[in-house]
Amino acid sequence: MDVAVIGCGYVGLVTATCLASIGHTVRGVEKDQRKLAKLREGHCPIFEPGLASLMQEQIAAGNLSFGDSVREAIQEAEVVFLAVGTPPKPDGTVDMSFLEAAGREVCDALADAPPDYLITIVIKSTVPAGTNRKLYYYLRQHSTIEFQVVSNPEFLKEGSAVNDFLEPDRIVIGGESPEAFRVMRRLYDPLITSEDVFLTMNWESAELTKYAANAMLAARISFMNEMSILCDAYGADIEDIRKGIGSDSRIGPAFLRAGVGFGGSCFPKDVAALQHISASVGHENLFVGAIQRINGEQKRRFVERISAKLGRPLKDATIAVWGLAFKADTDDIRESPAIDVIRYLLEGEARVRAHDYKAMENMKQIFGDQVEWVNDPVACAAGADAVAVLTDWPQYNTLPFRKVSATMNQPVIFDGRNCLQRDVMRENGFQYYPIGRPALESPLRLRNGYRVAAAEK
Ligand SMILES: NC(=O)c1ccc[n+]([C@@H]2O[C@H](COP(=O)([O-])OP(=O)(O)OC[C@H]3O[C@@H](n4cnc5c(N)ncnc54)[C@H](O)[C@@H]3O)[C@@H](O)[C@H]2O)c1
Repeated sequence: MDVAVIGCGYVGLVTATCLASIGHTVRGVEKDQRKLAKLREGHCPIFEPGLASLMQEQIAAGNLSFGDSVREAIQEAEVVFLAVGTPPKPDGTVDMSFLEAAGREVCDALADAPPDYLITIVIKSTVPAGTNRKLYYYLRQHSTIEFQVVSNPEFLKEGSAVNDFLEPDRIVIGGESPEAFRVMRRLYDPLITSEDVFLTMNWESAELTKYAANAMLAARISFMNEMSILCDAYGADIEDIRKGIGSDSRIGPAFLRAGVGFGGSCFPKDVAALQHISASVGHENLFVGAIQRINGEQKRRFVERISAKLGRPLKDATIAVWGLAFKADTDDIRESPAIDVIRYLLEGEARVRAHDYKAMENMKQIFGDQVEWVNDPVACAAGADAVAVLTDWPQYNTLPFRKVSATMNQPVIFDGRNCLQRDVMRENGFQYYPIGRPALESPLRLRNGYRVAAAEK
């Protein structure tokens, strides 16, 4: 099928590339000229495992191309995806301006299409309930061609996006006509391994499914973060609790890891949006409010713990931050916990050094020269009073910890992702503070005349 994808960010580019790889002819439209130049040269503008090579393969095969004209892209398209951003406004409501602009562009471009031309317009972006219905009535008012509107929210995870798209747990299709479902069934056919994978429903159900999924996943993380506080207070281990409840088939193991809090372009904004979607029908969503509050507190608590356990004042201490991306395997820093943590550290007048394997350039846009940027994690830790681990890059686990320990001012690690190995920490003489797990509090070597409590807990 001929497909156009408007917006080639994380979701649009993965959608365009993966649809090309299953046999469709896809034209991507991107308005950001810097991104577009990279795409046209065959360079992937984001870091996402497996995406660059698949994209280059599909460009070379003639299945995938990029441009900046909606009109050109949709000329022959049967299906047009809108995959532009729907970021949060400062008050947490959804900024719909990109989607509205893209919708208008599609509508204008369709003015030239023959009247018997059937086109399926798919909203892939995450949008509040009622958006697909509004788009449908807007197009009906402003366009003379035959069209149908489909809601097709995306559930991919950054870091495993290509795989998630090509092997979906489910494909959610919201629509109001059997023909719309038939078109989407044909589009996704190679990915539909059983009929349970292809779920059809009305527009509003599909729109709310996306928010419900993200709020549920965020809630699981926030719940475990609350439990981690009890673990610290009672000497329990949150990892044992995770295994203890995750093995219950009614609960399942996913998204039960405690840590410094969730981030990313989706969970925080979608949880906030759900709060507003609820408020707009006069309902105060207490559950969603608690998720947000717990997540905010978790980041603050992490820095308070650094301050309490550092063994010296935070002011003028050097804290090495390992990990800036909101999770491993991405360069995405949107709503990353590292942003708040670094901000609190700077407010406490600490000196902050930072390292990440992919996200350093993005984070420099926020903190500039307030932070010292170091390309190597060992060098980043050298001379520091503590390391704070904020992204679970697996590479951090295989660092030469003997060298790290020997070159730090004091060997203290606050593990905000519970991703380092306790035995390795003990063997290398670290004071080690994971989240919701027993700490290792061994005597510190004295370098600056500061002393902290001895004895391992
Ligand atoms: N990132 C994720 O993990 C993820 C997962 C599921 C759903 N979503 C949802 O998908 C949507 C897109 O998210 P994203 O992360 O890909 O955003 P993004 O910001 O990475 O990408 C959006 C792209 O659209 C482009 N754009 C904006 N207006 C345009 C226009 N009129 N014509 C052409 N291009 C235009 C922007 O330049 C940008 O490159 C959002 O609604 C988001 O909530 C994101």
